[in-house]
Amino acid sequence: MPALLEVEQVSRSFGGVAANVDVSFTVEAGEILGLIGPNGAGKTTLFNMIAGEIAPESGVIRMAGEIVSGRGPLACARAGIARTFQIVRSFDTMTVLENVMVGAFARVGRTRTAMAEAAAMLAATGLAARADAPAAQLTPPEKRRLEVARALATRPRLILLDEMLTGLTPAEAQDGVALIRAVRAQGITVIMVEHVMEILLPLIDRAVVLDLGRVIARGTPDAVVRDPAVIRAYLGDRYAAA
Ligand SMILES: Nc1ncnc2c1ncn2[C@@H]1O[C@H](COP(=O)(O)OP(=O)(O)OP(=O)(O)O)[C@@H](O)[C@H]1O
Ligand SMILES: [Mg+2]
Repeated sequence: MPALLEVEQVSRSFGGVAANVDVSFTVEAGEILGLIGPNGAGKTTLFNMIAGEIAPESGVIRMAGEIVSGRGPLACARAGIARTFQIVRSFDTMTVLENVMVGAFARVGRTRTAMAEAAAMLAATGLAARADAPAAQLTPPEKRRLEVARALATRPRLILLDEMLTGLTPAEAQDGVALIRAVRAQGITVIMVEHVMEILLPLIDRAVVLDLGRVIARGTPDAVVRDPAVIRAYLGDRYAAA
């Protein structure tokens, strides 16, 4: 059996900037993988390639053994990949329920079915009471949940969470952690980008660390935080005291 996701020697640049260079790692079904690294390391670019929004210049990404890279967002969604955005993207004039129906329509054709699916995802993410509100009225933590609900409505096997907990209060972040654990408990594999190590490390099974577009470390959370290359590139005074 191949790993659920295989990223193999993937490279992508923008003009002169090498955003991802020969990036390789695998993710097993049921894992929570943390993707960490300093600003500009290439984390969101990697998510954009896994979700099919941009194509690698070289290398290949496989989902359950099938090549998905370069085939576009719809093919990636059909292969079971969903994502949230670092900069929240809701349709502000639509209701919360309608926003989540957009995700459901990736998979189901009938409006009534999409509505029922969306309502179930709002219940699962704690947003049921906000179903009829315009998305613009949601608080920042609610908007993060809406992103998750819309992604879940596509019924993914793999979800990519890009700084879903960033900017939240500690209490809101802990609610987010509980949501991520609940998502994994449903059998959905998670890759998450998060800068707050105190939140990330207890949650993840393994980490991949990027710096300047390259993988500089991978392994258990304990191993990567002790890795001298990781401390030098990223953690520094952020975590060195621990
Ligand atoms: N569409 C684009 N056009 C030009 N340059 C880009 C584009 N997308 C990313 N880059 C560049 O690629 C590099 C990696 O960016 P990316 O957004 O992937 O980093 P990141 O690890 O997500 O950073 P952050 O932690 O700040 O979100 C950066 O130098 C960025 O400026
Ligand atoms: Mg980013």
